[in-house]
Amino acid sequence: MATAILSALPQEQSTLVHRLARPQRVTHAGRAFWTGDIEGRAVVLALSGIGKVAAATTATALIERFGAARILFTGVAGGIGDGVQVGDVVVAEEYLQHDLDVSPLFPRWEVPGYARHRFACDAGLTALLSGAAGAYVTSATGHFDPKISLQVADGTSARPRLHHGLVVSGDRFVSAADEVSRLRTALQDGGHDVLAVEMEGAAVAQVCHDYGVPFAAMRTISDRADDTAHVDFAAFVQTVASRYAEHIMLGLMRLL
Ligand code: ADE
Repeated sequence: MATAILSALPQEQSTLVHRLARPQRVTHAGRAFWTGDIEGRAVVLALSGIGKVAAATTATALIERFGAARILFTGVAGGIGDGVQVGDVVVAEEYLQHDLDVSPLFPRWEVPGYARHRFACDAGLTALLSGAAGAYVTSATGHFDPKISLQVADGTSARPRLHHGLVVSGDRFVSAADEVSRLRTALQDGGHDVLAVEMEGAAVAQVCHDYGVPFAAMRTISDRADDTAHVDFAAFVQTVASRYAEHIMLGLMRLL
């Protein structure tokens, strides 16, 4: 059974497609899926699409149509935790939908029908992903694009770090300092210590929970979800995130 690798954006995925042995392109549900082998492992590559609904559809197709045995997610995210900087990598341990609010019927962020706020990633798969990400992050030091490293907040150091913890998803590109500060404070007040924000992972985590399919996710931090988020984002996806995705996924395929 194949390992599925989901990417949020084409730039993140293209390097992986180039690594495929016996590549085959299959169209299903209006999406392109690539099957083949990477490092001798059967894989299926897909773009999640942007936002929770698109990602949930893609994840469901990976499971129902392609029989995915496990789903991995590589992408970018806005760093909102303390010390989570552009160029760092976050390995998700849990996911929450930050824009889900059925209050007062249910507590804010609780997913009705599941009696929970968060969905956990698979511990074993996450440990392997973390090993692969840690190995790459250590070796990537010094390979950083100097133009990007200047944008790393204070310009002190481009040395990337690996973080583990809660990532939140919602159908918004968060790009304002006051918004990110409100979001972070509200989550913290609710007992949710968040590292990063993106737009798909929580949906995939919920689909994987429903089907009992192991899920693990990593996000390279492309911006700080503040007023300059869109500037950092474009440069970052193009130059750095795709390289991270390629190397970390190749490393992980060797560990599986
Ligand atoms: N993905 C990358 N950066 C993001 C941001 N600031 N908000 C939502 N998703 C993102």
